[in-house]
Amino acid sequence: MKKIIAIIGAMKEEITPILEYFKKYETISLGENTYYKLEYQNSIIIIAYSKIGKIHSALTCSTMILHFNANYVIFSGVAGGLREDLKVGDIILATSLCQYDVDITAFGHKLGFIPESKIYINTNESLNCIAKKVAKKQNINLKYGIIASGDSFVFDNAKKQWIIDNFNASAVEMEGASIAVVSSLCDIPFCIIRSISDSADNNANISFDEFLLESASRSAKFVISMVDEIVKE
Ligand code: ADE
Repeated sequence: MKKIIAIIGAMKEEITPILEYFKKYETISLGENTYYKLEYQNSIIIIAYSKIGKIHSALTCSTMILHFNANYVIFSGVAGGLREDLKVGDIILATSLCQYDVDITAFGHKLGFIPESKIYINTNESLNCIAKKVAKKQNINLKYGIIASGDSFVFDNAKKQWIIDNFNASAVEMEGASIAVVSSLCDIPFCIIRSISDSADNNANISFDEFLLESASRSAKFVISMVDEIVKE
């Protein structure tokens, strides 16, 4: 059976380096979104950017799995770093994802918990091993940690600290957890790769604008190398 690998970004800038690398692809429009499909080494790759946020990325991820029959989901993009050792350009692999903006504590639930779901959803161990292999081969100091997602761009020191304190997160972004929810409910292996664009602090919006392209292309390059490993297996 042919492998079908979905690569998702949130913003156009996050997938452009991947489209430029593969050059030739078919374009498919669905749900006001564009999917780019190509054959690569006896596998199929489908690439799309979802638009920002958990709802858009949930739709794109669902489409990748339920319509295009993807059997691997890889997210590539940028994130705000929450740890001192996470610098702009560093690549972080999510060990698990959570939604820091889910709050039904009014009914006695823990912050981030939804009944019949989990606060933290783990990423796929085999895909994470491939990421580690790529990092080793390319001498990249790959970082790991919990990534927290929410529908806001975090550019506030107090909010940053709140996310660290409540979720022990290493990075923050706006799509990883929805990709995790959809993929895990559909039982499809997924992983989240992000390169740091800012530190989610009071200066984050300026840093994001400055480093989006550079960090997005670092993440994209890493994900392309992961695809090369997956198709070889
Ligand atoms: N993606 C990149 N930086 C981010 C931040 N500071 N907050 C949310 N998403 C981000």
